[in-house]
Amino acid sequence: MAEAKVLSGAGLRGQVAGKTALSTVGKEGAGLTYRGYDVQDLADHCDFEEVAYLIFFGELPSRAQLDAYRQRLGTLRALPQPLRDVLERIPADAHPMDVLRTGCSMLGTLETEKDFSQQQEVADRLLAVLPSMICYWYRFTHDGVRIETATDDASIGAHFLHMLHGRKPNELHARVMNVSLILYAEHEFNASTFTARVCASTLSDMHSCITGAIGSLRGPLHGGANEAAMAMIEPWQSADEAEQALLGKLARKEKIMGFGHAIYKESDPRNAIIKRWSECLAQEVGDTRLFPVSVRCEEVMWREKKLFCNADFFHASAYHFMGIPTPLFTPIFVMSRVTGWAAHVMEQRADNRIIRPSAEYTGHELRKVVPLNERG
Ligand SMILES: CC(C)(COP(=O)(O)OP(=O)(O)OC[C@H]1O[C@@H](n2cnc3c(N)ncnc32)[C@H](O)[C@@H]1OP(=O)(O)O)[C@@H](O)C(=O)NCCC(=O)NCCS
Repeated sequence: MAEAKVLSGAGLRGQVAGKTALSTVGKEGAGLTYRGYDVQDLADHCDFEEVAYLIFFGELPSRAQLDAYRQRLGTLRALPQPLRDVLERIPADAHPMDVLRTGCSMLGTLETEKDFSQQQEVADRLLAVLPSMICYWYRFTHDGVRIETATDDASIGAHFLHMLHGRKPNELHARVMNVSLILYAEHEFNASTFTARVCASTLSDMHSCITGAIGSLRGPLHGGANEAAMAMIEPWQSADEAEQALLGKLARKEKIMGFGHAIYKESDPRNAIIKRWSECLAQEVGDTRLFPVSVRCEEVMWREKKLFCNADFFHASAYHFMGIPTPLFTPIFVMSRVTGWAAHVMEQRADNRIIRPSAEYTGHELRKVVPLNERG
């Protein structure tokens, strides 16, 4: 057997762990692309459903294909009664990511993927139904209402805001949700996607792959960073106060959520896009605090540490301005990234070998068992 190479860096950083035709992240001359399209281009010219179609099927849809796909997703929003029953039993103070993880797993028992010929069906169903799941649970446990999840909203983003607030969103909010879902849709071999691919490589079912991915995304070093960023900036009353507090955190060597990236080294291309929309929303709501506080954080982090905002930082203020409760920030990431996860599962299945790396052993030399009655 060939001797395995021991990696010098922790976290598998820089290792090519497989192939993908779905996206590039930080590649020289390409940046962040989905199926060969720059994310900025997609955010400027497309709706999220177009991008989901692109990620799944490889090409942007024609008008007729998009209409048909939207219509199809629109018919998949209803929650089966046993899933509603489960959601109603989850406590109001549960973490919404745990709700989605449980909901996805429960759906897998009701609508089990019987064989891989059903994979696109399952992916579409999840894309359509995850917003229903989170809003149904949230509104039931927080407002005591059983909402209707089968709305006629054209887009997934508007559907989510409609269910959450009980009224249709204005055009700006629907647009920002749309852009946000595009920005979060796919990101190569990040931790949650890699989780999904490892699970897929055992030839497991789609719901198991997505359930595992939700668990990985939950952590504050990954998707949870947008919530952590909001918790950090929320109490700061001015940009000056933010600067002082941030300098203190840096002096104490605290991690600042929403900054830095495992792959990008100078900037995250998603940041400029969501920052611009956050500014529009700040103007709409007449904000004179959170947006300037966020901008100052960006300046201080770059000046002091050469650390830049990742996709999560300005998402925090943008979501806040749209009246979205902070604990629902990461679930929005799920509603979007399920596209990338499911596409990666399909890609893994199409050219599969079980993912099974090795470990460098750092434990004891071989030793003999001392019988129990002889141990001290
Ligand atoms: C994303 C993240 C996990 C990448 O981790 P990583 O690849 O290990 O980061 P790097 O190798 O670039 O880190 C280099 C140095 O910068 C520091 N650093 C990186 N991100 C930092 C942050 N957000 N705040 C403070 N210091 C940070 C690291 O601690 C490290 O310092 P050290 O060399 O003294 O240990 C990390 O930047 C982080 O924890 N960010 C905050 C969480 C976040 O926003 N996650 C969402 C990612 S999209």
